[in-house]
Amino acid sequence: MTELILSLDVLDRKQAVSVAESCAPFIDAIKIGYPLVLSTGLSIVSDLADLALPLIADFKVADIPNTNRLICEAVFSAGFDAVIAHGFVGADAARTCVEVAHRHSGAAYIVAEMSHPGATEFFHGGVAERIAELAVTCRADGIIAPATRPERIARLREIVGSKAIYSPGVGAQGGDPDEVARLVDGIIVGRSIYEAENPGAEAERLSRIRR
Ligand code: XMP
Repeated sequence: MTELILSLDVLDRKQAVSVAESCAPFIDAIKIGYPLVLSTGLSIVSDLADLALPLIADFKVADIPNTNRLICEAVFSAGFDAVIAHGFVGADAARTCVEVAHRHSGAAYIVAEMSHPGATEFFHGGVAERIAELAVTCRADGIIAPATRPERIARLREIVGSKAIYSPGVGAQGGDPDEVARLVDGIIVGRSIYEAENPGAEAERLSRIRR
């Protein structure tokens, strides 16, 4: 069954907890990025701990190996279960994130290709494929691939095989959940859920249509 991951990009702590609580029965993990952590601090991790859902730090880590190590150590010490890192920085830097994640019994996912229109400027022409290969070589737990381009997900699947593919870009960015859910291990959904009048009901609807 394809997982449903809530991208919790709201800025208010109370709203974040309330959206997460209402969606919790229907989702498999919560992805938290800079918008929420910069607004609330890392204490938001403990606020969500009672939900007992995996928490993914979408910090798109993209620095030199030593700085990546420091960032990832902080991520896992704060209580996150997984981290998202960029692969374009090279194998040494990406591998550092994977190693720290695994040392903490966590997971690391490498961004292979992004979902927004501008992503084609640099990720196409063989770059995304090379990053997907790097993710395999670095023993990452999976890659991030764009729900807005299902044909690209299919191409990257050929490279990563059974490794997990998580896919943002469903709904607000135009990706079709039905089509994408067949291709990936998890769809990542933000605005379509947290901007809905009833976020829990929207999460439930998405949880029913995923394959
Ligand atoms: P929406 O509101 O568009 O939120 O459903 C999507 C969430 O996913 C993030 N995002 C990406 N993360 N690669 C990533 O690693 C991508 O291609 C990508 N596209 C969107 C976005 O920041 C938001 O949190």
